[in-house]
Amino acid sequence: MRICDLFCFSTSSLFLLLILNLADLSSAYIPQCKCIRFNSTDGGRFHSPDFPNQIEHIDCLFFHFEAPPGYIVQIIFDSFSLPPRNGICSSSLRIYDHTVDGLIEPTDRADYEFCAREITMGRAFYSKREHLLLQILHANAVSKGFNGEYRFLPKVNFTSDAIEIAECTYRVEKAKGKLFSPLYPYHHPSNVNCTYVLPHQRGHQIVITSSFLNLGSDAILEVYEMNDGKHLLHTATSASKTLYTSCASSVLIYFKAGLNDVEKASGFVLDFQYEDGIWSRPNGYDDSKPECLLDVNSTDLKTGSISSNDLGRGSSLPTKCRISLIGYPNERISIQFTKFNLYVPENKNIEKRCIDVDHITIDVRVDARLSRIDEWCGANTPPQIMSSSNLLQIEYTTKSSRAIRESSPDEIGFAFDYKFHTDWNMDHMQAKVDANRACRFIFNSSIHSSGKLWSINYPGLYPRNLYCEYIFHGKESEIVHINFEYFDIEGFNQCDETTQSDYILFSNYQTHDRTNRRYCGKVRPRGPIISESNYFRMIFFTNDIFDATGFHAHYQFITQR
Ligand SMILES: *[C@@H]1O[C@H](CO)[C@@H](O)[C@H](O)[C@H]1NC(C)=O
Ligand SMILES: *[C@@H]1O[C@H](CO)[C@@H](O)[C@H](O)[C@H]1NC(C)=O
Ligand SMILES: *[C@@H]1O[C@H](CO)[C@@H](O)[C@H](O)[C@H]1NC(C)=O
Ligand SMILES: *[C@@H]1O[C@H](CO)[C@@H](O)[C@H](O)[C@H]1NC(C)=O
Ligand SMILES: *[C@@H]1O[C@H](CO)[C@@H](O)[C@H](O)[C@H]1NC(C)=O
Repeated sequence: MRICDLFCFSTSSLFLLLILNLADLSSAYIPQCKCIRFNSTDGGRFHSPDFPNQIEHIDCLFFHFEAPPGYIVQIIFDSFSLPPRNGICSSSLRIYDHTVDGLIEPTDRADYEFCAREITMGRAFYSKREHLLLQILHANAVSKGFNGEYRFLPKVNFTSDAIEIAECTYRVEKAKGKLFSPLYPYHHPSNVNCTYVLPHQRGHQIVITSSFLNLGSDAILEVYEMNDGKHLLHTATSASKTLYTSCASSVLIYFKAGLNDVEKASGFVLDFQYEDGIWSRPNGYDDSKPECLLDVNSTDLKTGSISSNDLGRGSSLPTKCRISLIGYPNERISIQFTKFNLYVPENKNIEKRCIDVDHITIDVRVDARLSRIDEWCGANTPPQIMSSSNLLQIEYTTKSSRAIRESSPDEIGFAFDYKFHTDWNMDHMQAKVDANRACRFIFNSSIHSSGKLWSINYPGLYPRNLYCEYIFHGKESEIVHINFEYFDIEGFNQCDETTQSDYILFSNYQTHDRTNRRYCGKVRPRGPIISESNYFRMIFFTNDIFDATGFHAHYQFITQR
């Protein structure tokens, strides 16, 4: 016998049903269950019999929510109050959320059983398929009962915007959309292992954010970037509140979960979008267009050369040219001048300032603003420069006329090589670079017992906003000596925040320790810096203003006696 096909009334009969004495309808069946059907396509409200009046004895009553094909049921409680649980839940509301056809066997276990005030206001339940059943059993105590609202939701609204290429393996082929955990908003099955592939599109970055995240206690959601191998970008677990990540390579998302029959976590909803990979100018940015512009982005070429001859051809007298080098979000830009000789009238003294004569300025993006590195004129060749982010801008301002420049006996103008790169360009340092993106170099005495180290971009200006670690691992009973040959770190006094200083500091511990002395300025530390044990850590910190040329040092691991 299958219960709930004995009496099925449509919702319009609810009133009729309630004015009948429920007991009169009972026959010899045990349990004798009445069933009320809720199937209005517009949804509606539901409530315990006689609500808001108290309910008393109910042998057994079913509410059957039946969604049209291709829809699921959502019920949301506004209030819920049944007699308290005294060891057992003798007056209860049972929920059956995964029946195939709306019918259950008397032996079926409910998916949920609630009494007392165990359903909080606003709590929602979803069916796995078209049917959801509520079973009300009320003993002789009185209670307020419950009420709420039901709706039918189209399943397509919870279908990932991706092609299923194998079991629970999806490939995204849209520019924007959503990814859902399996069966969402219903709880995901136990022991799932799903993969979502977002292939790289040239000129774009992939931005992923969570609009819902409720992972079970042993579920994990990992985001990897696929870029010469697989690198972990982000891990979300049950403790995570949100997920946000962006990446300019292909992305792989893994969702792995253990048992979920009891916890019934509903998983995740992720929004993805392929955005323009190139930095866009933020609000408030000075976009007054100079006479000539040259944008170089890293879509096609990662290296190249630019010369002042490439600028403003055809224009009779450019007074300002702007060259913007624009990379992907994870790229930095390095430039190195190969020629530099700007026109200076004979009577001008350029020792103090360049503003009155032909000059170039170089700016880099720091967060959402452009930050000036410096200006250069005459034959003072700018140092090698590495940006801290993906935009570097060079402006060439000319006060002289083109005719004067072209008639000058020296060749006037400049040329530089540029490179877009994601690494630190420190291969020659013979340190192991930590695989994740952080700036960390590891010196291992078993590999090299002595060697050299230097600041990023040395002998050029070090980039802004750095937090780099140089880590020394000696063998047991070894210590390390570090000797500085060159030292130029922008800062003074105690090198602290009040002076907006860049600095280096040393630590004998892997954990953060604030007590150590900071070094900055132009005077190199005297004598070697010596570690206490076989572990030593040097931190090189730079802020977002002013730069200098950094440091160059050598190290040696020494066996202690
Ligand atoms: C709801 O169920 C009743 C009774 O079974 C049926 O007559 C009616 O057509 C159904 N309405 C919808 C919208 O399915
Ligand atoms: C289903 O999705 C469509 C399109 O996004 C939206 O307009 C509609 O409101 C959604 N329906 C429900 C019931 O959420
Ligand atoms: C999940 O699936 C991926 C790819 O199919 C596989 O490499 C991985 O080992 C699986 N993990 C688990 C925990 O089953
Ligand atoms: C990048 O440069 C290429 C070639 O110069 C150009 O086709 C493309 O539109 C540029 N992309 C952006 C986002 O500026
Ligand atoms: C140092 O290198 C040796 C030899 O390659 C290796 O066994 C050891 O694990 C390395 N130590 C560290 C801390 O990386």
